[in-house]
Amino acid sequence: MERLIEKAEILMEALPYITKFRGKTFVVKYGGNAMAKNDLRVAFAQDILMLKYLGINPVIVHGGGPQIGEYLKKMGLESRFIGGLRVTPKETMDVVEMVLGGLVNKSIVMLINRYAGGHVRAVGLTGKDGGLIRAKKLDAEEYFREMGNFRPTELLDLGHVGEVEYVDTQILKHLEEDNYIPVIAPVGFDGDGNAYNINADFVASSVAGALKAEKVMFLTDIEGLKDSEGNVISSLRTEDIVKMIENGVITGGMIPKVKAAVEALENGVKKAHILDGRIPHCILLEIFTTEGVGTEIVKGE
Ligand SMILES: Nc1ncnc2c1ncn2[C@@H]1O[C@H](COP(=O)(O)OP(=O)(O)OP(=O)(O)O)[C@@H](O)[C@H]1O
Ligand SMILES: [Mg+2]
Repeated sequence: MERLIEKAEILMEALPYITKFRGKTFVVKYGGNAMAKNDLRVAFAQDILMLKYLGINPVIVHGGGPQIGEYLKKMGLESRFIGGLRVTPKETMDVVEMVLGGLVNKSIVMLINRYAGGHVRAVGLTGKDGGLIRAKKLDAEEYFREMGNFRPTELLDLGHVGEVEYVDTQILKHLEEDNYIPVIAPVGFDGDGNAYNINADFVASSVAGALKAEKVMFLTDIEGLKDSEGNVISSLRTEDIVKMIENGVITGGMIPKVKAAVEALENGVKKAHILDGRIPHCILLEIFTTEGVGTEIVKGE
């Protein structure tokens, strides 16, 4: 009996959050590294479905760095990164589009649909579908200068690496009305029909901004954002971030992630979270418990 009461108490802890978040949109970035293990994949799908059934509107944006790397290798193409961004010549872009929009996207869609009841379905999109993500070639020089890690000696033509120009949310609104969960691969397009490889963190923040989402959550393969001593920072203000990049505390794939978090907050998203995707049910733990997990990023004054 005691155990049953305890269970009820745990459920009750979630009540204020359910009340608060019902009807709100949460954008979840599902990182390539956090997608690796099967039991974690199942827990992820269950969390997303739980949100949907509780009346929250989840929108998924996924990465796929390791999967792209694997296929490039099979095809004899090299993987190269500058400041956390993948250098993407045309032939690499084709592989990116095939792997992200095909294999990775559809495996997430299938995963969610396998655990969904009859009323909910996941549907996969790239930024080309429904004209969702209009993009342009990333101005790499400006990008690195803004980030405070501008290195003039480095190669600055990143090829088909893009940035979001705007998000046309129409298709997402239709899907929400009809109870679908959108699963978005981070491939954008421009007016000339070019495809762009956009870091999924930026797509997540742009989609979150366009939907005026309550939260954007970045699931990744590390406990959270770490300080210079390697301790996880539980709450961080946007103004502290540039210094941490300049000092080399934030590097690699964490750079676009924190920059994306800041952009989302600037575009009206209430909170950004960096979560450890290796913890089963990390999404539910963050949203429905008082303690929360990982790092939250809030707007500084
Ligand atoms: N200060 C920091 N705190 C935490 N992680 C950091 C920090 N600086 C750099 N990192 C690195 O950032 C990595 C996370 O970014 P990464 O791009 O590799 O993963 P992802 O975005 O989850 O996956 P994908 O890019 O495939 O979607 C961590 O594994 C860590 O090595
Ligand atoms: Mg990344």
